[in-house]
Amino acid sequence: MQYLFRRWGKKFLSRTASHYPIRSASGRVLLSPLQKDEIRFIESWFQDRRTCELAFGVKAPWDVLETIREEYIEELQKDKVGVLSVYLEKDNKISSPVGFVRYKLFEKGRRRQARVGIILGPPEHRGQGIGREAFQTLLDYLFEQRDVKQIELDTATFNLAAQACFRACGFEPIREMEFTSINTQWTEKRLVMRLSRQQWERR
Ligand SMILES: CC(C)(COP(=O)(O)OP(=O)(O)OC[C@H]1O[C@@H](n2cnc3c(N)ncnc32)[C@H](O)[C@@H]1OP(=O)(O)O)[C@@H](O)C(=O)NCCC(=O)NCCS
Repeated sequence: MQYLFRRWGKKFLSRTASHYPIRSASGRVLLSPLQKDEIRFIESWFQDRRTCELAFGVKAPWDVLETIREEYIEELQKDKVGVLSVYLEKDNKISSPVGFVRYKLFEKGRRRQARVGIILGPPEHRGQGIGREAFQTLLDYLFEQRDVKQIELDTATFNLAAQACFRACGFEPIREMEFTSINTQWTEKRLVMRLSRQQWERR
């Protein structure tokens, strides 16, 4: 996820086209812009080594992960545009954030595209369909309301849960690449995946 968001500037992010929160089809999952005081949740999730490995896509020593984590949080503090917290609603009560999704819009050949990512923070919330539902909600929002023609993402080749989640949402693998983290020079293999508007419409 780190690689995705470094590369695209702010210029495609200024327009907001939706009323928040965005609700999933079942109504269980809500997405709403990340608030400044919610960054503390993300900091607490990133105390966990495995979460850092999965989120940053690197199986590195803890000091390397810490460096990446600091850079990541600093970036989030500066720019929260396109970052939506994930909440759960049950019995009319909305939970604290359980994760977040991210998107960045850009133009390629006059076609609007997006790069996306997702992190569920507390491990106990994973593997229950929440990630898939939150991600599907983001994709629907981008195709329906932001007129996106194609969405790309990348994930570590070792992150099989993320790959399964992305495949379940319709993404197909297109290539493998090597990614080197800027501050740490740590290299890891990543899988690039893509979903076109036509594929999304067919589903
Ligand atoms: C990746 C992540 C968002 C997936 O969300 P999730 O809620 O755990 O996954 P879901 O329960 O919605 O499952 C989605 C699909 O993945 C499959 N899946 C989930 N966990 C899996 C695992 N550990 N191994 C293999 N498949 C798995 C499910 O069977 C499901 O497929 P199906 O719908 O065809 O049955 C979440 O696990 C997470 O945030 N992990 C930590 C951070 C991370 O890896 N982020 C992605 C960085 S690129």
